[in-house]
Amino acid sequence: MTDVTVNIDRLCRELEQLATFSDAEPPAVTRVLYTEPDLKSRRYLKRLCVEAGLAVREDAIGNLFARWVGSDPKAAVVGTGSHTDAIPFSGRYDGTVGVYGGLEAIRSLHAAGFRPRRSIELLMFTSEEPTRFSLGCVGSRALCGALPPDKLADLRDKDDQRLKEVRKAAGFRGDLADVRLSEDYYSAFVELHIEQGPILEREDIPIGVVTAIAAPSAMRVTVDGEGGHAGAVLMPSRKDALCAAAEIILAVEAAAKSTGSPDTVGTTGGCRVHPGSVNAVPARVVLDIDVRDVRLEPRDQVVRAIQTTCDDVSRRRGVNAVAEILNADPPATMATLIVAAAEDACTTLGLQSKRLVSRAYHDSLYMARLCDVGMIFIPCRNGVSHRPDEYAAPEAMKRGVEVLALTLAQLSTG
Ligand code: HGY
Ligand code: MN
Ligand code: MN
Repeated sequence: MTDVTVNIDRLCRELEQLATFSDAEPPAVTRVLYTEPDLKSRRYLKRLCVEAGLAVREDAIGNLFARWVGSDPKAAVVGTGSHTDAIPFSGRYDGTVGVYGGLEAIRSLHAAGFRPRRSIELLMFTSEEPTRFSLGCVGSRALCGALPPDKLADLRDKDDQRLKEVRKAAGFRGDLADVRLSEDYYSAFVELHIEQGPILEREDIPIGVVTAIAAPSAMRVTVDGEGGHAGAVLMPSRKDALCAAAEIILAVEAAAKSTGSPDTVGTTGGCRVHPGSVNAVPARVVLDIDVRDVRLEPRDQVVRAIQTTCDDVSRRRGVNAVAEILNADPPATMATLIVAAAEDACTTLGLQSKRLVSRAYHDSLYMARLCDVGMIFIPCRNGVSHRPDEYAAPEAMKRGVEVLALTLAQLSTG
């Protein structure tokens, strides 16, 4: 298999249509797990997969599988895909390029007369973003067993609703114990994704071949102080939870800057103040913190520093600051077989490629616990992502889908 014709106009039209399923004003996109936009986008994708002649199924939490059955239907399957949920006020290409580009790769291979030995299966993972349940990659964690059914069922959102109730309200039934896949289900999984960084565009290289995915961790810090009347409580007697939290927020930044590793990042992405009135001393603050590095040691150094700061601030300010580790996952190394297959595809297509580490996490991080995994990156404008101005050019997507198609062809023949 050496060439395919990607229908980029169709792909762009479908991504345009997908972007209309959103709870934000364009060009921003908000598409949170099990909300109306999420459910509409699932119906849309299912329709396109059925029209493409794929066998479609959904599991008990909404992971969607669309299979092109190969000549050896019992052989372990080659998977491709990504996610279509979107954090609030973000862009229209994060994840969606991997789902709709994966569908386009399958349609292009079929149109070119290719027939796979191994079935090729498109996946749309449920809840890759941590927006609803403060945990990323819920769908792929469940598929690989990193999130057992009881913990999955008990995930709670910010309104204290549990996954086991909200999934049923969204129409997903079935036994959560059936979500986990066996280790021989997939032989390989390849995810196409925008780089979410500036390197490919800056170096004018059309394709990134990922070698590793950074190690993500998320923490929730709850600071309990003493509320009271903003006019009546004098400064010496205050136990202001927000002032204590401010010290912790700055300590996250300082710790991430001081590991000695250029790959360490620390972000306080959420801050909720209770009672949140201008004339009340903050009684409680909840911080959502994200810490990453390509290597575990510097990342865990920052996690420990945050825990130490909580103890120190609690003692000095008479508050109670508690750090909870929501997840602290190891990095993943991409399979050399798939790195080679993607680079072969680039050579066949006459495209330059560059090996990269992914600083963002992806469902591939957890699929790597099930099978050989690889990722193909395409440039995004100014490296921007998780913002309304996120953008991937049609030509960049076309090249990415071509490389994905040839990679899938190679992996599904073997
Ligand atoms: O946060 C991430 O790295 C991914 O975009 N969810
Ligand atoms: Mn994302
Ligand atoms: Mn993503």
